[in-house]
Amino acid sequence: MRIITVKCLDDNFSYILINEESNNACVIDPGESKPIIDIIIKEKLNLKYILNTHHHGDHVGGNLDLKEKFNCGVIGFNKDKNNIPGINIFVKDKELYQNNDFEFTTYHTPGHTKGHVIFHFHIQNLLFTGDTLFSLGCGRIFEGSYDQMFNSLKLIKNFSKDTLIYFGHEYTFQNSKFCSHHDPDNGKLKNKILEITDKLKKNVPTTPTSLKEELDCNIFLKCKDLNSFSKLRELKDNF
Ligand SMILES: [Fe+2]
Repeated sequence: MRIITVKCLDDNFSYILINEESNNACVIDPGESKPIIDIIIKEKLNLKYILNTHHHGDHVGGNLDLKEKFNCGVIGFNKDKNNIPGINIFVKDKELYQNNDFEFTTYHTPGHTKGHVIFHFHIQNLLFTGDTLFSLGCGRIFEGSYDQMFNSLKLIKNFSKDTLIYFGHEYTFQNSKFCSHHDPDNGKLKNKILEITDKLKKNVPTTPTSLKEELDCNIFLKCKDLNSFSKLRELKDNF
């Protein structure tokens, strides 16, 4: 499987996943359609599916255009069916979805929104975390509770350490400032900041990251209990 990271809108990431045998593709969280269409045409791909992690406009903005142009299916969480434009394939929490081209499991990770999900492509061990987990940060709590978000992050922490994490926004540099403010002596964090600064200087996205690096460096994954997580999340909202 080949992955193309597509920058959308101001700081969103969409991902085009390609089965290289069939040239069939799916796109995760198309915030807008234009950059996706350009790549589908240039690479001569067949866009078969759209997958959405949650209903926010900057993740679903391209759905209807793409669905109309390529006649692709729109896959989302069954409990979010009234919120995701064009949805016509419904997946449940912990459901394995398989077809000839792709195979992934959906996990419900409420907090940022009530119906947020993440997608795990277990053969390649890739996790698409949308706005639940970012590199060096986590999503803001809009619809859900601190408790839900804390548990959603706990679920992610239980994947294997070599899982590659593909997240929804290029917030890494801003997030790194908050992490180093609260964890100033973390040598691994210092190294990670050097790496991401170098990437950003070259205009290279900081996605993907690995779960191991996030466990080492992401201060939200280091919180031991709900109380400390909630305090930290509030501090970040005002940082
Ligand atoms: Fe969002």
